[in-house]
Amino acid sequence: MTETSGSSHRIDTSTPHPARVYDWYLGGKDNYPADEELGRRIATFEPTAKYGAQHNRWFMHRATRHLAGQAGIRQFLDIGTGIPTEPNLHQVAQSITPKARVVYGDNDPIVLAHAAALLRGTPEGVTEYLQVDVREPDRIIELAAKVLDFDQPVAVSLIAVLHFVTDEDGAYETVRRLMDAVPPGSHLALTLLASDFDPERTREAVEMYKAGGVTLVPRTRDEFGRFFAGLELVEPGIVWLPDWRPDLAVDEVRDGSAVPLYAGVARKG
Ligand SMILES: C[S@@+](CC[C@H](N)C(=O)[O-])C[C@H]1O[C@@H](n2cnc3c(N)ncnc32)[C@H](O)[C@@H]1O
Repeated sequence: MTETSGSSHRIDTSTPHPARVYDWYLGGKDNYPADEELGRRIATFEPTAKYGAQHNRWFMHRATRHLAGQAGIRQFLDIGTGIPTEPNLHQVAQSITPKARVVYGDNDPIVLAHAAALLRGTPEGVTEYLQVDVREPDRIIELAAKVLDFDQPVAVSLIAVLHFVTDEDGAYETVRRLMDAVPPGSHLALTLLASDFDPERTREAVEMYKAGGVTLVPRTRDEFGRFFAGLELVEPGIVWLPDWRPDLAVDEVRDGSAVPLYAGVARKG
């Protein structure tokens, strides 16, 4: 496990944190009263929040099946990993390609505290966890390069994380730098909270997160599409998250509820 010198590892339980609110949405146990309170407020006002978190997780499973399967990717860099929830990305990837090498990263110390669960993979494969901030792409590349071969294709995934990063904090620049560091044949998998699905409700959700001290940056479809600049979107392109390759689902329960998230996967040519 690699830790960056600049990160604080103290777990502040007095205010909500995205990883723990998300854990609460998913029915996990690694959250505190402040996280549950914000989660409940959002879920009362926006019942799709919990369902959206589960759908987001299912997208990660489907995208990883595509990447490790059809796309033949053997190396994965997943930033904004979240508190482990089985199956984790490496378990999906290594079930298809046991030699898969997976580097995870998150900036929340609670994820670091649970990282052991992310490091139990196949004997043939490799998993590593980095305590990093997605806004420091150069540092991520430097640390990840100790485990991944950047001359071979890498699947970079930033799943439900870029809506915690403002444009001013370099959301687009981060993605560009990460994708500049990987060779042709690499892929990018993204999901993001949509601002143009139900603008009024989204604005209220942003205010609720803000009151909890968390910056939330939903984006329009066009703004989401800009993250894929210079890359080739794979079928079906940018879609509402549950509509991305439902054929790759294994044990999902689809009930047709609207999920205000965009999803897309693209290939570097
Ligand atoms: C909604 S969760 C998504 C978890 C996982 N990617 C998934 O889709 O199941 C967002 C995660 O992004 C992490 N995160 C938020 N801002 C971050 C940042 N600046 N750098 C790294 N991770 C960040 C949070 O700690 C949290 O674990």
